[in-house]
Amino acid sequence: MTLLQADDVAVFDASGRALVHPVSLRLDAGAPLVVLGETGSGKSLLAQALMGTLPPELWARGRVRIAEAEHDAAQPQGFRRLWGRAVAVLPQEPWLSLDPLMRARAQVAEAHALVRGLAPVAARRAAAADLAALGLGDEAGRRYPHELSGGMAQRVAFAAARAGGARIVVADEPTKGLDAARRDEVARLLTRALETGGGLLAITHDLALAQLLGGRLIVMREGAVVESGPLAEIFAAPQADYTQKLLDADPARWPRRARRAAGPSVVEGRRLTVSRGGRALVEGLDLTLRAGEIVGVSGPSGCGKSSLGDALLGLHAPACGAVRRIEGVARTAFQKLYQDPVSAFPRRRALGATLADVARRFGRRRAEVEALLARLDLAPALLARRPEQVSGGELQRLALLRVMLAEPRFLFADEPTSRLDPITQRGVIDLIATLAEEGCSVLLVSHDAALLDRTADWRMALGGHGTAEAAGRAAPAVALGAAG
Ligand SMILES: Nc1ncnc2c1ncn2[C@@H]1O[C@H](COP(=O)(O)OP(=O)(O)OP(=O)(O)O)[C@@H](O)[C@H]1O
Ligand SMILES: [Mg+2]
Repeated sequence: MTLLQADDVAVFDASGRALVHPVSLRLDAGAPLVVLGETGSGKSLLAQALMGTLPPELWARGRVRIAEAEHDAAQPQGFRRLWGRAVAVLPQEPWLSLDPLMRARAQVAEAHALVRGLAPVAARRAAAADLAALGLGDEAGRRYPHELSGGMAQRVAFAAARAGGARIVVADEPTKGLDAARRDEVARLLTRALETGGGLLAITHDLALAQLLGGRLIVMREGAVVESGPLAEIFAAPQADYTQKLLDADPARWPRRARRAAGPSVVEGRRLTVSRGGRALVEGLDLTLRAGEIVGVSGPSGCGKSSLGDALLGLHAPACGAVRRIEGVARTAFQKLYQDPVSAFPRRRALGATLADVARRFGRRRAEVEALLARLDLAPALLARRPEQVSGGELQRLALLRVMLAEPRFLFADEPTSRLDPITQRGVIDLIATLAEEGCSVLLVSHDAALLDRTADWRMALGGHGTAEAAGRAAPAVALGAAG
């Protein structure tokens, strides 16, 4: 049974330039449709066009058939009554979609009351049943969002999104930045909805997730579909050159980076204990980060990776111990590449204006900015737009450009490629490796074990909550030793 059928759906910007060329696709009950592709190739815009949620400055053309009714993609108002009832969007950041002041079950009950018009008692009962079906009992249902683990919060957000009875789930990069265990959990969550006759459209850069989901695949590049068909067949024997390159760029297939002699110490932590909210995340850690070296950090969500980086940068005071940074180097040479690139740019300013300010501050010329744009494979036209008007992967690379203008001696890179397709990811990691070769010391956080294995000179695994040690006591940092 076909749940959604799109015919020649295309997306244009205000000047009439096509951002997505006509795409036709079909979503069947019980079979996932996975979209892979280049960053900036129009995956998110295509999904938005199918749901009638494009931003006002963009417009679409084409026909979308959902739940037996035909919709004109050029008339997004017509889609509104489908939201929550026929189509649910699985939010990538569950925390952002949950109300922090409302208990888990109440959030799901509210959706039942608002979208389906259930009376309070019936809504509460329905919410409890939804959560139970996802393995969350009464006790979990009484918790506030901050008391839930990331995986639990995602299940609550999922239940709330689907409470209106939507059969179609659209998930845009549902696993970006998640470690393998949580990625598998999300894959199970998405597949479970299919078992009861639902439909799933999943956009992802994660080749492992794509394989876990299976079903049909669309590969996109530069606003057009380059290949489509059964996922397993395409993974086994890709027809398009681009698809082959995409699969080859999987970090598991990268060669290992050659090790070089490390330079002098740039940042040191001695008997470092880093806490948040009174809980020690890292305890008694000794580490020395040297010029020219890439140190990989991994560990489950919430284990303190970002807090450790902030402590080394002097942005977060350690509970115990000391941090020493190399002397005679400007404060601005210690840089952080934020996990969430949105936080690197003011929302309402053109990206170019922000970057021009940063360039001026560091005495960099326009030509240097242009050279960096080219190195990062970014079109100069992006600079005229605001942060929300570029793709996730474009913004992530612009954040790296911003940091590079400061000529960092120490770079804390927190999941710097989580929003990139495998090919672009490889380019960005190569660039970070070049920075290291030029003498920068890099602390690289990633959930991707293969990526760290191929890239880092040595690695560190942080323990985390949810593990046995974490109940009250701090989980120790464990050095994994040298790679390569
Ligand atoms: N509001 C906008 N105005 C003009 N162009 C836009 C706007 N939003 C996105 N674009 C452009 O449209 C293209 C496709 O964007 P889209 O967000 O769909 O990419 P994507 O495939 O989802 O990429 P990623 O994998 O990086 O998320 C990009 O080049 C982007 O810069
Ligand atoms: Mg996107």
